[in-house]
Amino acid sequence: MLEVRNYIRGEWSVVRSGREIEIRNPADQTEVLGRGYLAGADQAEAAVTAAADALPAWSSMPGPRRGEIIERAADILEEERDYVARLLTREEGKTFGDASGEIYRACNVLKYVAGECRRPDGIRIPSELPRNLTYTIRRPLGVVALVTPWNFPIAIPAWKIGPALAAGNTVVFKPSSTTPLTAVRLVEVFERAGVPPGVLNLLVGASQDVGDRLVGDHRVRGVSFTGSTGNGTRIYTACASRGVKAQCEMGGKNPAVVLEDADLDLAADGIVAGAFGSTGQRCTATSRAILEEGIADEMLEKIVGRVSEWKMGNGLEPDTDMGPLVNEQQLRTTEEYVNIGRDEGASLVCGGSRIEDTPTSGFFFQPTVFDRVEPGFQIAREEIFGPVLSVIRVRGYEAALAAANDSEFGLACSIYSNDAGHVFDFSERAEAGMVHINSPTIGGEAQVPFGGIKGSGIGDREQGPTALDFYSDLKVVYVDYTGRARKSKFY
Ligand code: UN1
Repeated sequence: MLEVRNYIRGEWSVVRSGREIEIRNPADQTEVLGRGYLAGADQAEAAVTAAADALPAWSSMPGPRRGEIIERAADILEEERDYVARLLTREEGKTFGDASGEIYRACNVLKYVAGECRRPDGIRIPSELPRNLTYTIRRPLGVVALVTPWNFPIAIPAWKIGPALAAGNTVVFKPSSTTPLTAVRLVEVFERAGVPPGVLNLLVGASQDVGDRLVGDHRVRGVSFTGSTGNGTRIYTACASRGVKAQCEMGGKNPAVVLEDADLDLAADGIVAGAFGSTGQRCTATSRAILEEGIADEMLEKIVGRVSEWKMGNGLEPDTDMGPLVNEQQLRTTEEYVNIGRDEGASLVCGGSRIEDTPTSGFFFQPTVFDRVEPGFQIAREEIFGPVLSVIRVRGYEAALAAANDSEFGLACSIYSNDAGHVFDFSERAEAGMVHINSPTIGGEAQVPFGGIKGSGIGDREQGPTALDFYSDLKVVYVDYTGRARKSKFY
């Protein structure tokens, strides 16, 4: 049994009263993994103070030295990959393969960011004046708050903590209290890598007790958030009112368009992986399949054929394709949307119910496909965050593009086609932050920016070279080495 702990000023501590939480395996509710109490206002205050105190020394440490510590964290995480992946699977429910892949991605992000610490962090710009030097530098924001969800409890924190530390900020990290145990393990990795006390602080607490306090604290100079669009826009508004930077990575309703000329087997593989991988609990999950009428029946047959071979179960079993939903609430939400889809008149092609006959009591739901979904239906517009795919039939490329863009979200999208004209046109006109050609809507690489537009994202992109933009302010420096007063008032 593991304890829910906080890490403040280099010390681990437990809270002994207040809101109690119990972490159970979503695939097997009889397995209790951990217990504890949530942090409150006192711990939040202590964590921000610790981060503020640690800031001067950490921000003045040379970048390459900070990079060495981050690189060590990547090495330690890599050595522990199997252990952490098992813990992640037991806490969150995803398959061991997905968990291991997530940790691999986290390691890559940390290695990439460590390398960035040795790269140029500014540019020299020619001056209009003789004997003048003009250049840019980047300065850390200060104390930053990182608020992360339960669905990628290692990778998302890693891709926020890594660049935040690399840029010289100190951090208060608030993971989802649904998956605090993997968060504790990740912070232990940074501790062992040599992150000094106070530079990285962990608070396992509720949004109303801890999250809102962090967002409103005048010492917190930046907030990076991943989660729902509702919470993200609220955080963004609160940060704007204080004049501090915020980066919010939010929901998605990601479409995969399949044109008549596509390789239909490839498209079916990609749609099934995108819709049902990670049990659909992914902001990049494929939740709308937009099919040209001429191939729609054949595509549906291929999708349903593949789905029917999927095995649901405990993610630690090697042959499991899809694990449970993370908790009762996600299970209920999925169920509610399936009922809404039925009431709206969509035709249920497969799935649609809980799986009750499992050997253990887990939150299992069948992979579900609805056909004949209209773009105006709720199941075509709202993020479900469960294994539900809506098929929208269209006639022609322009109608497919219009259906893809008919959404409040704009995170990721796919097009399956071998027509170069359509593929390039789609890459330009699809309203999304990430476009995948002939591959699923999910995934991304450490060195490539990640994020969306519209209701899916506000602020600088995470990962890749843009990650450090968010965590630092740009400053320009003018050096006049003439030793003379300027002649014109315009200079
Ligand atoms: C991925 O698709 O590989 O919450 C990552 C999410 C995203 C991360 C997705 N922020 O699902």
